[in-house]
Amino acid sequence: MSALFSPFTLKDVTLRNRIAVPPMCQYSAKDGFTNEWHQVHYPSIARGGAGLVIVEATGVSPEGRITPDCLGLWNDAQAEGLARIAAAIKAGGAVPGIQIGHAGRKASANNPWEGDEHIAEGDPRGWQPIAPSAIAFGGGLPRVPSEMTLVDITRVKADFVAAARRARDAGFEWLELHFAHGYLAQSFFSAHSNQRTDAYGGSFDNRARFLLETLAAVREVWPENLPLTARFGVIEYDGKDEETLAESIELVKRMRAGGLDLLNVSVNFVIPDVKIPWGTPAFLAPIAQRVAREAGIPVASSWGIDDVQHAERVVAEEQMDLVMIGRAMLANPHYPYAMAQMLKEQRPDWVLPAPYAHWLERYRGAGKVAA
Ligand SMILES: Cc1cc2nc3c(=O)[nH]c(=O)nc-3n(C[C@H](O)[C@H](O)[C@H](O)COP(=O)(O)O)c2cc1C
Repeated sequence: MSALFSPFTLKDVTLRNRIAVPPMCQYSAKDGFTNEWHQVHYPSIARGGAGLVIVEATGVSPEGRITPDCLGLWNDAQAEGLARIAAAIKAGGAVPGIQIGHAGRKASANNPWEGDEHIAEGDPRGWQPIAPSAIAFGGGLPRVPSEMTLVDITRVKADFVAAARRARDAGFEWLELHFAHGYLAQSFFSAHSNQRTDAYGGSFDNRARFLLETLAAVREVWPENLPLTARFGVIEYDGKDEETLAESIELVKRMRAGGLDLLNVSVNFVIPDVKIPWGTPAFLAPIAQRVAREAGIPVASSWGIDDVQHAERVVAEEQMDLVMIGRAMLANPHYPYAMAQMLKEQRPDWVLPAPYAHWLERYRGAGKVAA
């Protein structure tokens, strides 16, 4: 059996293989609600053979959405559509996961295909973003956020808890806290975006506080037997990478001690104009491995792992426990099936559910296709 198609167990959850579909915003919701697009998109990806499918960044509050068209989980009615998606992902043979987050100062943006920049101030589609400090991201996201009060901080932590509880009740079995990509939690940890002088800014302990407190509060409501994970940027590519990595790994150790079960290792994206090595396939893999070893935690990672040999290698060489494959799954939701063929996997149950696998495997080449 290939490394990529070996099962992976975390807590009481077993994935049929090491292929995970990372959260990918669909920018297709209205008022945070799922619709036909999501109801088709997620099950189709699950049916294609991935072990884990994580539903896109889902706002814990209206102002926590990245765009007005992002999903939300701040009320029970929104959870109903998500529950149907969780069940359908499961029916496709994958474990249903969801990423919950707050976009912080990057919130109130247009969809990527509409420009990907902040919605102009005064446009009724947008809203005033909040962040640890009143410092804009810059570039196409120039809007200056309001500095969060302590009341705001308490409220957002409670929003994470409420969303986690709804995700649990909706049947999700894998929770990912969005602590990455320059959104709210990541911007608390980075001194680039956090210049607070109270208990949530300044020292390492203070910058880590929002993340650790949010994790601890969610841990209270998320079942012990199910994976509680986070996506977190450990490197900025701003020339101070060793320093950032060392700090990040220290924080991951504390998150692990606080009940984190796996880290989805990513990039900070806290400042624009950084030098990310996009051209290098699987460029985060050695970094993910270092985080895993030094923090003593299982890891997943993504970015440019769209080739079966790379995917197999990063798992076989224990650079990561799970490979997150994003855009290649949009191009072909049955890509895991294709990868299994390329790796000459023989197990009959490796990827596809029976209504597909039966015809593609058992009768392959036999010409026996009549019902
Ligand atoms: C359409 C799209 C939407 C994305 N939305 C999210 C998201 O909601 N949350 C997140 O953490 N990352 C998001 N990402 C990043 C992906 O999870 C993934 O890390 C990235 O696409 C790199 O993996 P890949 O090279 O396999 O595509 C998104 C990426 C794409 C292409």
